[in-house]
Amino acid sequence: MRSLIASSVLFGFASAAALPAVEPRTSNHGHKKFNVQVGDRPYYLIENMDEGPLKQKLQSCSEQDFKPTDFSIAHRGASLQYPEHTLQAYSAARRQGAGVIECDVTFTKDKQLVCRHSQCDLHTTTNILNTPLAAKCTTPFTPAANGTPASAKCCTSDLTLSEFTSLCGKMDGSHPNATTALAYMDGTPSFRTDLYASGCPQLMTLTAYISAVDAWGLKFTPELKAPDVPMPFDGYTHEQYAQDIVDAFAAHNIDPARVWLQSFVPRHVFYWIARAPAFAPQVILLDERVDTPEGYAVATAGMAGLAARGLRIIAPAMFALTKVVGGSIVPSEYAVAAKKAGLEIVAWSFERAGWLSVEGGGYYYQYVQNVTNNEGDMYNVLDVLVKQVGIKAMFSDWPATVTYYANCFGL
Ligand SMILES: *[C@@H]1O[C@H](CO)[C@@H](O)[C@H](O)[C@H]1NC(C)=O
Ligand SMILES: *[C@@H]1O[C@H](CO)[C@@H](O)[C@H](O)[C@H]1NC(C)=O
Repeated sequence: MRSLIASSVLFGFASAAALPAVEPRTSNHGHKKFNVQVGDRPYYLIENMDEGPLKQKLQSCSEQDFKPTDFSIAHRGASLQYPEHTLQAYSAARRQGAGVIECDVTFTKDKQLVCRHSQCDLHTTTNILNTPLAAKCTTPFTPAANGTPASAKCCTSDLTLSEFTSLCGKMDGSHPNATTALAYMDGTPSFRTDLYASGCPQLMTLTAYISAVDAWGLKFTPELKAPDVPMPFDGYTHEQYAQDIVDAFAAHNIDPARVWLQSFVPRHVFYWIARAPAFAPQVILLDERVDTPEGYAVATAGMAGLAARGLRIIAPAMFALTKVVGGSIVPSEYAVAAKKAGLEIVAWSFERAGWLSVEGGGYYYQYVQNVTNNEGDMYNVLDVLVKQVGIKAMFSDWPATVTYYANCFGL
């Protein structure tokens, strides 16, 4: 059994208000060198690969200097080991060479935009249950009992902006068998770590995210999340929500060429394509229809229709882009159809699966399970996605792994 985290985040000693703000000051602009660090993980994975030309090529890049690359998109920051969507997670992603940093966008009770993966994940991604703000949660903490797992539901829309920013980030996770709120919060999956969840990892507003990433000279991919509350919410419509994100970038004078707006919600995507022409060429439709065989077939058949409506980039979970034929990983029907329709493809998310040696990597590797049985095999999949599918970029929970590959192949 895991030992309880000795972190002030869990015990509630820290509060964001009591800590000095971490100022993103250094910039990629000008002549100052920014020292990208990929760390030891890519070397570990390459060592683990089966012998062959790809392993040799990756090994040949071991001593080169690494540079930021737009091929490497930080998924929720460096969320494999840092609490997602915190300044610390974004900063680590920058150090790992991510050229583009993601903020998942949702809204507070006072209709302010903030970075959270879901409108209602505060109970698993922050210390809210150990603060007085727990009283504001949509559903309070309920202990596990008689075989029913513990539960809670705390939404950004339960809190004002200032209440939201008073919370601290923690590693996403919860313990289903917990009988206390503290035990419930202590549920980090074993392949991640609480090492960087100490103190009070700083939650981000959309504005703070834009300021930080702009100061770093990097690029943006904000994802407008589907609301978990009925819309309009206190008069707030889908359209206003989609417009507010555009206005936030305009207010910071950000060149739209630095911004990839994304959403799973076609209504958001086609709003931007119609109403935000400067951003339209880089709008990304995230595609989860591939999660069922029927949806996969519908999506594959519908590529030309999406392109005709002005969409240029589609982004399914990475598993949907490949399959195995005769023991080799090859592009899937979905990938072939997207390319044929002239769509560019972005894939998600690398380094989210945990151990590939457990169930061949689960969801993200479900069509290539038969050929993924050790950790280094993830580079074989990435190599096919790059060279045969032709993906434009890859989201990763640990950008360094993708940065290394991208630098090695000049992406
Ligand atoms: C929760 O309890 C059940 C039943 O005792 C057990 O099978 C399961 O492994 C427990 N889950 C965790 C995460 O400890
Ligand atoms: C994996 O291999 C098994 C046994 O060879 C085969 O029956 C199965 O269809 C394969 N699955 C995939 C997804 O290729």
